[in-house]
This record gives sequence, structure tokens and C-alpha cells, in this order.
Amino acid sequence: MGVTQLQAVFPGDRQVAVREREKPTAGVDEVVIRVGAAGVCGSDLHYLYRVPAAERGLPRLGVSINADAVPGHEPAGTVESVGSAVDGVRPGDRVVVHHISGCGHCEWCVSDRQMHCADKKTYGFDIDGAFQEFMRAKARDLVPVPDGLSMAAAAFCACGAGTAYNAVRKLAVVADDRLVVTGLGPVGLAAAQFALARGARVLAVDVAEERRKIALTLGVKLALDPTADDFAAQASAWSGGRGATAGVDCSGNESARGTLLDAMGVGGRVAFVGEGGAVTLSVSEQVIHKQLTIIGSWIFGRTELREAMEFVAERGIALESLITDRYSFDDVASACATADRGVGGKVVVIREEENR
Ligand SMILES: NC(=O)c1ccc[n+]([C@@H]2O[C@H](COP(=O)([O-])OP(=O)(O)OC[C@H]3O[C@@H](n4cnc5c(N)ncnc54)[C@H](O)[C@@H]3O)[C@@H](O)[C@H]2O)c1
Ligand SMILES: [Zn+2]
Ligand SMILES: [Zn+2]
Repeated sequence: MGVTQLQAVFPGDRQVAVREREKPTAGVDEVVIRVGAAGVCGSDLHYLYRVPAAERGLPRLGVSINADAVPGHEPAGTVESVGSAVDGVRPGDRVVVHHISGCGHCEWCVSDRQMHCADKKTYGFDIDGAFQEFMRAKARDLVPVPDGLSMAAAAFCACGAGTAYNAVRKLAVVADDRLVVTGLGPVGLAAAQFALARGARVLAVDVAEERRKIALTLGVKLALDPTADDFAAQASAWSGGRGATAGVDCSGNESARGTLLDAMGVGGRVAFVGEGGAVTLSVSEQVIHKQLTIIGSWIFGRTELREAMEFVAERGIALESLITDRYSFDDVASACATADRGVGGKVVVIREEENR
């Protein structure tokens, strides 16, 4: 073996193993990145970390998984070396890796919707991702990190916050909106922050008290427990009896989706972001008679990732305030255990020199 590095892998059943492997080298159209920060996303937990060992490597919710790949699909870092055919990216550049690597040629890839590419690979799921010291990536999957954006915030944009930004953008949230967000994990908290930045009034909803408290620190005026007896009355009073105009579910929970649809008013727009599970609809009462528009919002393209990071940098969105836990690359196990408890904000794995 040549120069080696440490990688974290998930054997299943909430275990994390650290292994030593050869440091990657860049192919002609690739780069090697010194990973500066790597976020832990809810999808890492649902698709990989919590999976029983016997089910490792099986596809989950349509995503193909290679049991031997290094997890981590929120990579931010500094380019260390570039392949011979790489143009426009140089060693020293600060970048995030757009975690969906499409074929680059099909109708989806050319329209920046790489997530629908039939030949796509996903960093952290079926090709090596960010929970390692150095990571190989195709040069075309890189997006530059704007000046002033920290590595930790950039990593958060690479999936969780970028997803929240794009769901709020697709709903065209404006200052007149009354927006309800159900599920105040990192994705839901970021959605609340982006809706506030667009001027909306926000009602934040989660069963976890600690997460409701984090929402209140962002400037959300009301954060409610959906299981409280007076929830419906409080939500109605918040909207002046008119219901919400916009809503985002970031819980993936069936009952939370019902709570959200009940809170909507006439003409409301709803985005489903939380993955998995089901929803029971009272079609007439919850959808038809309210003339609701319900959309699904699944991650984002490369240009949408760039736009999200620029929005955060230019508007000074305090994504950093959502990052409550930071761990070093040799302690991915603690990072995952903390994220798995589901009570704090965003968890990132970060190099000492990026920790500011
Ligand atoms: N659509 C996409 O492109 C996309 C991208 C990234 C993540 N995701 C998904 O988004 C979801 C959120 O990610 P995360 O990292 O914030 O996850 P998370 O698990 O940390 O957060 C989910 C939150 O939902 C809350 N919740 C559970 N039941 C509830 C209920 N009945 N009412 C209100 N809140 C309830 C939980 O307490 C938790 O705080 C996950 O399902 C993740 O897989 C989707
Ligand atoms: Zn393609
Ligand atoms: Zn993710």
C-alpha cells in the first residue's frame, strides 16, 4: 500500500468501523479533495446507519447502495490534485461535491436534474463519499464555495440545507406567506430559516421540545407540539383563522403530514420533503375543498446548489447557528450517535483547522 488514510464505514445496526485504505488518486477527469467538513444527514441514518447488518447493500427507497462504499454525501473541502484533463478547477479551490453524479449526457443531466439520470451514481451511497480524509470526485460534480461561507455551512448546503432552500424556493415563499414547517430536524430548521429570510411568518412544529427551542432562537415566533390538546386552536389563532398559505413537511412522519394538511388554508401550497412512510388523505376536506397544491421536492441540481450557497453567503443566513455538534474525522461514531438521538441541530464531522 502507498500513502494511506482513514475511512469510516457503517457495518449496520448503528455501528461505525474505521478502516485504513490507500489514499485515492485522481483519474483524468477527476480531482482529489482534502475533505474539510462532512455533514451527517437524516438520510445517512435512515438508509445506512440504522439498517440491520443483514440488509446492508440492498436498495432503499429507490436509491442503490454499495455496502462497501464510504458513506457521507455532504462533502466540502479543498482540491488537492486534479487529473490531466481537468480544466477550470485548481488545487487550493474550496468546493462542495454535488452528491449526485449523473452521466452528464442524458435529458436529465443536461437539464440539471441529475437525480433522475438512469446511470447516476451517488457519493456516499454507491460510490465513496465524505467520511474519509481524502475523497475522489468527478470534476464536473464540483461547485465552488463562495467567499465567506465556512466549510461546515457549505457541507450542510450539500444536502440538508440545500434541500430546504430549494423546497422553499419551489413554493415561491414571499413576505405575505404564513408557512408551517413540520419536523424540525436540520432540514426543517433550515427551511424555517429560509422562509424567514424571504419574509414569511413561520409556525414551527415538532414533537421534540429541544428542537422547538432551537426554532425559537432563529426568530420563529411560535413553535408548537402537535400532540398538545390546544394545538389546533393555537395554530388557528396564529393564522387569524385563515389557515396557512404554505407548508413544508420535513419529518417524513405520517401523522405530521396530516397535521400539516389540516393547518393549510384555501389555496395553500405544500411541499413534501421528509422521506419514506405514507400519508392518509381526507381528499375532499384536506385537499379538494381547500384547492391545495401538493408537490414533492427531491434534492436539487448543481446550479441550484450553487444558488443555495450564494443565497446563504450573500444574505448572511446564520446556518452556522444550526450546527450544534462537531466531531473530528476519527470520531464519526460519536457524530452518528448524536445525530441518531434526534434532539439537537446539525451534526458535522470537521477538521480542526476548519473549526471556527
Ligand atoms: N426530499 C429530499 O430531497 C431530502 C433530502 C434530504 C433529507 N430528506 C429527508 O428529510 C427528512 C428530514 O431530515 P433531517 O435530517 O432533518 O431528519 P430528522 O430525523 O433529524 O428530523 C425529523 C424530525 O421530525 C420530527 N417528527 C417526528 N414525528 C413528528 C410529528 N408527528 N410531528 C412533528 N414532527 C415530527 C422528529 O422529532 C425530528 O425532529 C428525512 O426524512 C430525510 O430523509 C429529504
Ligand atoms: Zn444522465
Ligand atoms: Zn441527505
